[in-house]
Amino acid sequence: MPPYRAIPFSSYGACGIIKYIKKLRGKIMEAIFSRHSVRKFLPKPVEKEKLERLLQAAMAAPSAGNQHPWEFYVVQEPDVLQRLATCSPYAGCCAQAPAAIVVCKRDKLVRFPGFANLDLSACTENILIEASYLGLGGVWLALAPYKARMKATARTLQTAADSIPFAIVPIGYEAEPKATVESRYDETRIHWL
Ligand SMILES: Cc1cc2nc3c(=O)[nH]c(=O)nc-3n(C[C@H](O)[C@H](O)[C@H](O)COP(=O)(O)O)c2cc1C
Repeated sequence: MPPYRAIPFSSYGACGIIKYIKKLRGKIMEAIFSRHSVRKFLPKPVEKEKLERLLQAAMAAPSAGNQHPWEFYVVQEPDVLQRLATCSPYAGCCAQAPAAIVVCKRDKLVRFPGFANLDLSACTENILIEASYLGLGGVWLALAPYKARMKATARTLQTAADSIPFAIVPIGYEAEPKATVESRYDETRIHWL
C-alpha cells in the first residue's frame, strides 16, 4: 500500500485528476461520517501496511509552528496489550484488540507547549479517520491529562524519559459492525454571518 504522496497523478489526464480527487474526497467524507468508536474487535491481526498507513495519517496532522511533537508506540504483543488494558479504568478493550497505537508527546520536540496536546489531538483524530477509511475500527482512550494513567502507560511501554503517553488507540476489525451511524449535524449550533 503506497503512501498518499505516491498517488500516480501522472497517469491521469486533467479531467481524470478532477474525477479522481472527487471520488477520493467522497470516500474521505464517508470515512469521517461513518467513524465511530469501536471497542470490540475480531481476533484477526491488522496488516502491517494498514498500521503504517495509520501512522502516515497521524503524522500528516497539522501542528502549531509545524512542531510535530509526536511519537508512537505500536503494540501487537498480546501481553503488552493486556497490560495496556489496565492503564486506565476505561481501557479494558485493549485486552481483546489485535493492536494499539499509543500516541506520545516527545518533550524535546515541543517548542509551543500550550499547543502540544492540541497537536496530539489532531494526530489522534487522523488515526481514527484513516482507520475508518481502511475498514478498521478504533477508539480514543484518554490518558492525558490523568497523570496516573500516563505514568502507568509509560511504565508498561518503558518509554524514553521524555516520551509522555497522551492517548491509546486500540485498532482492529470491528466485531459488531454498526448498520448506520447517526448524524450529529445540528443547525442550531451554527451562526451564519
Ligand atoms: C478526548 C477523548 C477521550 C476519550 N476517552 C475515552 C476513554 O477513555 N474510553 C472510551 O471508551 N472512550 C473514550 N472516548 C471515546 C468517546 O467516548 C466517544 O468518542 C464518544 O462517546 C462519541 O462516540 P463515537 O466516537 O462513537 O462517535 C474518548 C474520546 C475523546 C475525544
